[in-house]
Amino acid sequence: MSDDHGTIESLSALAHDAGESYPPSPEFRAQANQNSSEIYLRAAADPEAYWAEQAQNRLTWKKPFTEVLDWTNPPFAKWFADGELNVAENCLDRHVANGHGDRVAIHFEGEPGDTRTITYAELTHEVKRAANMLASLGVTAGDRVAIYMPMIPETVIAMLAVVRLGAAHSVVFGGFSAESLRARIDDVEAELVITADGGYRKGRVSPLKPVVDQALELDDADGKPGTVKHVLVVNRGGNEVNMVDGRDLWWHEEITAYDGEHTAQGFPAENPLFILYTSGTTGKPKGILHTTGGYLTQVTTTFSDVFDIKPESDVFWCTADVGWVTGHSYIVYGPLSNGATQVMYEGTPDTPDWGRWWQLIEKYKVSIFYTAPTAIRSCMKVGRQVPEQYDLSSLRLLGSVGEPINPEAWRWYRDVIGAAKAPIVDTWWQTETGAMMVAPLPGLTSLKPGSSQIAQPGISIAVVDDDGNPVENGQGGLLVVERPWPSMVRNVWGDPQRFIDTYWDKFGDKYFAGDGARLDEDGDIWFLGRVDDVMNVSGHRLSTTEIESALVGHHAVAEAAVVGADDETTGQAVVAFVILKSQQHLITEAEAEQELRSHVASHIGAIARPRNVYVVNELPKTRSGKIMRRLLKDAAEGRKIGDTTTLADTMVMQLISDRVVAEREAK
Ligand code: WTA
Repeated sequence: MSDDHGTIESLSALAHDAGESYPPSPEFRAQANQNSSEIYLRAAADPEAYWAEQAQNRLTWKKPFTEVLDWTNPPFAKWFADGELNVAENCLDRHVANGHGDRVAIHFEGEPGDTRTITYAELTHEVKRAANMLASLGVTAGDRVAIYMPMIPETVIAMLAVVRLGAAHSVVFGGFSAESLRARIDDVEAELVITADGGYRKGRVSPLKPVVDQALELDDADGKPGTVKHVLVVNRGGNEVNMVDGRDLWWHEEITAYDGEHTAQGFPAENPLFILYTSGTTGKPKGILHTTGGYLTQVTTTFSDVFDIKPESDVFWCTADVGWVTGHSYIVYGPLSNGATQVMYEGTPDTPDWGRWWQLIEKYKVSIFYTAPTAIRSCMKVGRQVPEQYDLSSLRLLGSVGEPINPEAWRWYRDVIGAAKAPIVDTWWQTETGAMMVAPLPGLTSLKPGSSQIAQPGISIAVVDDDGNPVENGQGGLLVVERPWPSMVRNVWGDPQRFIDTYWDKFGDKYFAGDGARLDEDGDIWFLGRVDDVMNVSGHRLSTTEIESALVGHHAVAEAAVVGADDETTGQAVVAFVILKSQQHLITEAEAEQELRSHVASHIGAIARPRNVYVVNELPKTRSGKIMRRLLKDAAEGRKIGDTTTLADTMVMQLISDRVVAEREAK
C-alpha cells in the first residue's frame, strides 16, 4: 500500500446514511433458514466446532475426518485433512441417490434462445461419461486441466468431470487473450485444454478455439516446452475451426464411446480442486489454489444460509461467468452441492435488448437473483420502464457481489427489481476467500443500503489500523481476517513465498485482504474499495502494473502509468497516461490512443482495454522517481489536483490536467 494511492481517510469520506435500515419482514423471518441470532454466538464460541458441524451435516464423506483445523504451519492451513470425499459426488450422485434425480439442475438458455433443461440424473450421467472420456485421455488425480469455455452446460460438466477424477481445473475466462491463456496453461502445466469453437455474445459467435490455437503457437516461455497434448473442443456455435491432427478432438465425437458408469472415488480433503488466476499488485497474475473439503463446506453453507435457499422450490440465478470465482462458487459448487435448481444464461444482458434478464426471470420464475452493482447501474441508466414490462413477482431475495454497491443502486434494485420488499444481501468475498465472508443473513439482519454489514457465522473479521490494532466504531481501516476459515486460499500456485508476502507479511497471522473498510456506529462493515494497485472494473479485478507492463511492451511507448478512475457505470475505469518514445514520428497522438487501447486488449483481454489513453510529455514523479498515481487519478476524475509539493517538477501536473480537461471538452 503505497502512499501515492489515496488514504483510508479520503476513502472514509464516502458518507452514508447510517440511519436507514430494513429489517426482515416477519413472514420472511419465519421461513428463513437461519432465524435465530444464536447462530452467531454459537459459531463465535467455537468456530472449529461450528465448521466441523457444517462439514458433517452438509457434505457426504467417503472417509470421515477426525481433525478439523491444522494451523501448526501458518499461513498454510489444512481443514478436515484426514477426511476423504468426492466433490462431484457431493454435487450430483448423492442428490440422485436421495430421490431428487428428476429435479432440474440447470435451465440453460443460450443467447440465440435455444434452451436445455438438465435434471440432476442427466447431469450426473453426463459428468460420469465425461469423466470416463477424460480418464481415457490420461487425466488422473493430481493433474491440472485448463478450461476455456463459453457459458454452456458442458463447461459445468467438464469442471465436474475433472474434479470427479481427483484432478484440478484451471478455468480461464473466455475474454482473456491468447497470451494470458498461454501463461495460465504454462503455469499449471496443463496437458489438456477443454474449449469450444466459440460462444454467443451480442448476436454472434465469439471465437474461442482460434485463441487456443494462437496460445499454443506462442513461443515457449523460459525455454520450457509447452505441456498441452490434447485440446477437446465442444461444438457450440457451428463455427468452422481448425483441428490439429492428433492433438485436437471433438467432444461430441469422443463422448459417444463412453457410457455413464463411473464410481466416484474419495480423495483427501486437501486435494487441489482448482486454480484460478487473479490480478495482484505486480504484473504476473497469481494462481489462487483451493482444495476440496473446506472449500465445499463453506460454499455449501453460505449458499444455503445467505441466499436462504429452499432447493425444492427456489430457482436461483447468478449472472456471473463461470470464468470468475463467483461462477465457480455460486454457479457450480454452491448450487449443485445444495441440490438447487438454477438458470444458466450464455449471453449478454442487452441481447437482443435490455429486457432479456427480466424476461428470463419471468420465464423461469427465478426466486433468487445474484448480480453485480455495475450491471444494476447499467440497468438503472436504461430505465425502470424496461423491467417494469415483466412479471418479476417470483423474486424473493436479491444478492450483490463484486464491488461496493452504492446506496442509490441498492434502493433501485430493491424497489424496481425486488418490488420494494425483497431483501438484498450484499456479499463481500474474494477469489482468495473462496466463499462469502461478510454478508447479511436475510432472516436476521436489518439491511443497510450500501453495507455488507456482518461477518458470516464462524468467520472472524476485523478492521484495523496500519499497525494491526482494531479501529473503533465510526473509524476506517484495513480489513483483515483474524482466524483461518475453511474455504481460504491454500497457496499461490508454485509460489509459496508470494502467498506469504502478499497476504501475511503485513499483519503476521491475520490475513490482509487488500480492502479498505469502515465500521459504522453499530459496528457494521462498509467496504471502501481496494487499498492497493488493484482496480475493480465492472467487478473484475485488474492490476495497474499488469496493464502498465502491457503498455510499455508496445514499441512506441517509453513510459506508462495507469489508474482506476471513478466511472458511473463500471465502478472504475482504466485510464492510462503514456509517454511516447521520441523517435516514434510514425504514430500520431490520435493513432496512439486507438492503437494502445487495442494493444492492451489483445495482450490481456478486452476487459482491460483502457477507457482513455492520454499521451503526455511527462509523468508526475517524486524526487525519488516514484510515479504519483494519486495525482493522475485526481486528473482522470476531473478533481482539483491534490498536494503536489513532493513532486520533482510541480508544473507537470498542470500540463496533464489541462490535457485531460481539453480532451473532455473536445468530446
Ligand atoms: C471487491 C469477487 C465491496 C473487493 C467475489 C474484493 C467487494 C474484490 C464486494 C474481490 C462487496 C467483492 N463489496 N467490495 N460486496 N465483493 N468486492 O477476487 O475489493 O474477483 O477484494 O472476487 O472485489 O474480487 P474477486
